[in-house]
Amino acid sequence: MTTAAAALPALDPLPILKGFASLRRLTGTYPAGHPMIAQKIRELEDAVKQHLRAGPSVRIDVIHGDVFLDGVSFGRDKQANTQIIQELADLGIDSIHIDEGVDGEELRRVAEFLWQLKERPHTGSVEAQLAEHQVRHVSMGRLVALDTRWRAHQWPEAPSGNLDPAYAESLVRAQETFESVASGKKLDMVTVRDLVQLLIHKVARSNAALGQILAVKQYENLTYCHSVNVAMLSLLLGTQLGLDDAFKSALVEAALLHDIGKTRIPLGILKKPGALDKRERKLMEAHTTFGAEILVQIDGLRPMTPIVALEHHRGVKGDGYPDVGRGVVPHAMSQIVSVADIYEAITGARSYQAPTLPEHACLVLARLAGEKLNTALVKAFVNVITFFPLGSLVRTSRDELGIVIRTNHGDPLHPTVALVDASLEGPRGEINLSARDSAGAYERHIVETLVPQVPLDVTKFLPIADAA
Ligand SMILES: [Fe+2]
Repeated sequence: MTTAAAALPALDPLPILKGFASLRRLTGTYPAGHPMIAQKIRELEDAVKQHLRAGPSVRIDVIHGDVFLDGVSFGRDKQANTQIIQELADLGIDSIHIDEGVDGEELRRVAEFLWQLKERPHTGSVEAQLAEHQVRHVSMGRLVALDTRWRAHQWPEAPSGNLDPAYAESLVRAQETFESVASGKKLDMVTVRDLVQLLIHKVARSNAALGQILAVKQYENLTYCHSVNVAMLSLLLGTQLGLDDAFKSALVEAALLHDIGKTRIPLGILKKPGALDKRERKLMEAHTTFGAEILVQIDGLRPMTPIVALEHHRGVKGDGYPDVGRGVVPHAMSQIVSVADIYEAITGARSYQAPTLPEHACLVLARLAGEKLNTALVKAFVNVITFFPLGSLVRTSRDELGIVIRTNHGDPLHPTVALVDASLEGPRGEINLSARDSAGAYERHIVETLVPQVPLDVTKFLPIADAA
């Protein structure tokens, strides 16, 4: 994983979009088997394979003209790509998901389907038509537009079910704090201090709470909940780095309040599915300066807290926002919060897409390492989180279902799991996946992480924080 972080080139989704658009045109213009078609298929296949080396699937979504790769915006070079994007959008396609196992022949059939789409746009669902073309590894479709949000999957706005008591309490207090600031009141220092203590001394010591924060989150985070989670993830990273207690307390406070400026952003913009227009984006970006403004006025906060709020969207190369001068690199504490912030954001659900699985989120971080994020911090974070964090529901190579209950040091891909049955009842025993047979080979591997289809109560498998 760590070598992947260093070796991965920055992946660009546009060659895939361009490839589909031109292959579609060639398919409609030249007879099957024409060398130009064959050449284009090879190019497209190469572009797709490059992405699939980084993860089991590639998801390209176009939202209001911005291209998103696996949920991360790539909409920098908008003008140049407008035509390609428009061409696909006209066909009703603004989302392309490609899974491992796809080959050139299948890509050709997708292009053929795209060509025919213009002629007979309304014959059955895109899904059914792709199946008719024997396309199994590619899905396409229209993203839900803003004004039809009711058709999108509605995610709850906070975790539900049986929460670790200390984690539940921290969420309640954070919600009160953020709502009070949103209503124009001054940030209450006593509450902030208590909350930081609660997170460090209770929540961080509860495996159930960590499981609820680390594993895939099937809710759309509001700011207070995101903030508590980012504070905990930052603390995990800080502990992994061997930081001392004073630094860690300052880090938790700063992480908890890094997005406090969002209390000044209208909810309609915060919760808007998909990309923002220019004015909305400018306003959204201002949450960093708003945050710093709110925090510098509060006596008793640690000095780094407003700085982290200001800097947490700036990259290690001195880019990002807000503009505080070319090449100005954020403080190490801001860099830690940035890593935790991105992981937390993509492992939560958003209105236009399901949450990203942890192992995939780690790859997204790896892709950003060296460009936006500090590579050493990403490596340390992925080492502590692992691909299969506490609380994850996984399937083993022997087709068993298990909840990760312990990460095995030095063997992050083979944790210990508590077995569960198909209705996620258990535990039905424990298996250490790092066990090897007499020939020295692993007895089992994890083959996939699953998103629980029925509510999963991790407190049944992981120790919770004592309520006292
Ligand atoms: Fe932020």
